[in-house]
Amino acid sequence: MSILKFLILFTIIYYTESTVYDITTGTSNWQSILSNLKAGDIATIHQGTYTTAGSGYFQLTLNGQLTQPIIIQGAPNEARPIIQCAQAGANVQNILNVQGSNYMLKHLAFTKGSRGLRLGPAVTSNAIFDDIYIYDTTGTAFSANDGGNEYFNLTLRNSEIKNTNALGATTGECVYFGCVNDGCRVRDSLLEHNYCHDTLGSQGGARAGFQVKSGSFNVIIRNNACYKVVGPCIVVYDDYNRGRNIITGNLAIEAGTADLGIQCTSGATVTNNIIINANLAGIGIIQNSVYPTVGYIRNVTINHNTVYMSQADACLRLNSVTNNNIIIANNVLYCGNQKSITSATNLAGLSIYNNAVNGPIGAPGIQANGIFTVGNNVFADVQNLNFYPAVGSPLINTSGYLDNQPVVYDFNGKLRSKTKPTVGAYEFSSSTNPGCLIARNFKCGSSTAIVPNYFI
Ligand SMILES: *[C@@H]1O[C@H](CO)[C@@H](O)[C@H](O)[C@H]1NC(C)=O
Ligand SMILES: *[C@@H]1O[C@H](CO)[C@@H](O)[C@H](O)[C@H]1NC(C)=O
Ligand SMILES: *[C@@H]1O[C@H](CO)[C@@H](O)[C@H](O)[C@H]1NC(C)=O
Repeated sequence: MSILKFLILFTIIYYTESTVYDITTGTSNWQSILSNLKAGDIATIHQGTYTTAGSGYFQLTLNGQLTQPIIIQGAPNEARPIIQCAQAGANVQNILNVQGSNYMLKHLAFTKGSRGLRLGPAVTSNAIFDDIYIYDTTGTAFSANDGGNEYFNLTLRNSEIKNTNALGATTGECVYFGCVNDGCRVRDSLLEHNYCHDTLGSQGGARAGFQVKSGSFNVIIRNNACYKVVGPCIVVYDDYNRGRNIITGNLAIEAGTADLGIQCTSGATVTNNIIINANLAGIGIIQNSVYPTVGYIRNVTINHNTVYMSQADACLRLNSVTNNNIIIANNVLYCGNQKSITSATNLAGLSIYNNAVNGPIGAPGIQANGIFTVGNNVFADVQNLNFYPAVGSPLINTSGYLDNQPVVYDFNGKLRSKTKPTVGAYEFSSSTNPGCLIARNFKCGSSTAIVPNYFI
C-alpha cells in the first residue's frame, strides 16, 4: 500500500467530522437532518413550532459514540422549540420514537401525540434527556418499555411533564420504565429533578407519576416532585434481587389523589422523601409483582422520610410484610386522625426503630423502641409546607437509631449528624430551614419546575 493510500484510509477510519446544524422553522427538511445525524453531530433547533410530517410518528435512530455523542438541542436562551404530531389533536401516534446510544436531547418541548417520547422500538443506552417539557399528550409522556429490551444508563433530568390525558382517558404516567413481570427492564439509570403534575384525568392502571416495573434495577429516583397525580408519585415493584432501586429526596403533594404517595415491593431504599396529603398511604410496602422465584417481600429500607397526613389511610402501610431484611427507621409518620402505621401482619422481630408517630397505631407487634409519639410542636410551619423541625422539636436529638448504612445527607442536601441524626427528611442544623421553601419552589437547585403556592 502506498503511503498516500494509507493516509487516506487512516483518515477515513480515524477521523469522523462533526457537523453542526442550525434548524429554524424555515428548515423544511429538519426531520431528514435529524434522521441522518452521525456521531459527534450537533443539531440546534430554534424556537417555534415544528409539526412532524405525515400521519405517523417520527422515528429517530441516533447512534453516537461515548466520546462523540449526538446532540439535539433547543437553542440556548430561546424558548424551547415545540415538536408536535401532525394533526392537531392526534391521539393515535406518538410524537417521537427514538432508539440508539450515546445521544442527548436537551431543551425541547413535545406536545399533542399518543405518547410523548417512546424509547423504542429498539433499545436505548447511554442517553441523556435534559430540560424536556412534555405536555398535553393522550398517554404516557416518557416510556422505556418495549418488550425484550434491556435499557441502561438513561438519564431524564430537569424536565417537566403535565397533563398526560389531554386527548383521551388513559393511564397517563409521566414516566414508565420497564415491563410487567420483567418483560423488559431499565437498569443503572437516573430520574432526577423532574416535575410531574396535573395528570388528574388518568384512568385505569397505576396512573403513576414515576413508575418502575418489576425486574428493573439500580434505578435512582431522586429530587423529583409530583403534584396532583392520581396514582402514586413513585411506584417501584421488585428488583428481582439484582440491585436496589433508590427513591430519595422526592416530594409528593396531593399525589396520589386516589392512591399511595410512594409504593414499593422489594429491593428498594426509600429515604429523605416528603409526602404530603396522599389519598391512601403516604408510603406503602405492597405485595405486587413480586419476583416469582422468591415469592415474598424482602430487602426494603424506609428511613428518614416525612409523611404528613393521609386522607383515607395510614401514613405508612405494610402489607404482607414479614421479617426479611425490612428496616423502618427514623421516619416521621404524622397522620392526625388517620393511623400512623397500619399492618395486618404481626411486625414482631422487624427492624423498626425510632419513628416519630402522630395518629393511632394499627399494627401489632412493633417493638418498644420502634416508635415515639409526638404532638403538634414538631414542624416549623405546616401552613406554609415547611416541614423543617421547629426549634425544640422532639425530632431533634432523639436517642436515635443509627442505620448500618447511615443516610449522609438530608432533603436539603445538608450533612446529617453522625451521632444523633434528626428524625424525618430534614436534619436540624439552624433555627430556620436552611433550604429553599417548598411553597415558593418545589425543589431547589437546577430544576426548572415551579409550582404555584399551595395554600394560596
Ligand atoms: C452513561 O451515559 C453518559 C451519557 O451518554 C456517559 O457520559 C457515561 O459515560 C455513560 N456511563 C457509562 C458507564 O458508560
Ligand atoms: C434480598 O434478600 C434475599 C433474602 O431474602 C437475599 O438472598 C438477597 O441477597 C437480598 N438481595 C439484596 C440485594 O440485598
Ligand atoms: C443536642 O444535645 C446535646 C447534648 O446532648 C446538646 O449539646 C445540643 O445542643 C443539642 N442540640 C440541639 C439542636 O438541641
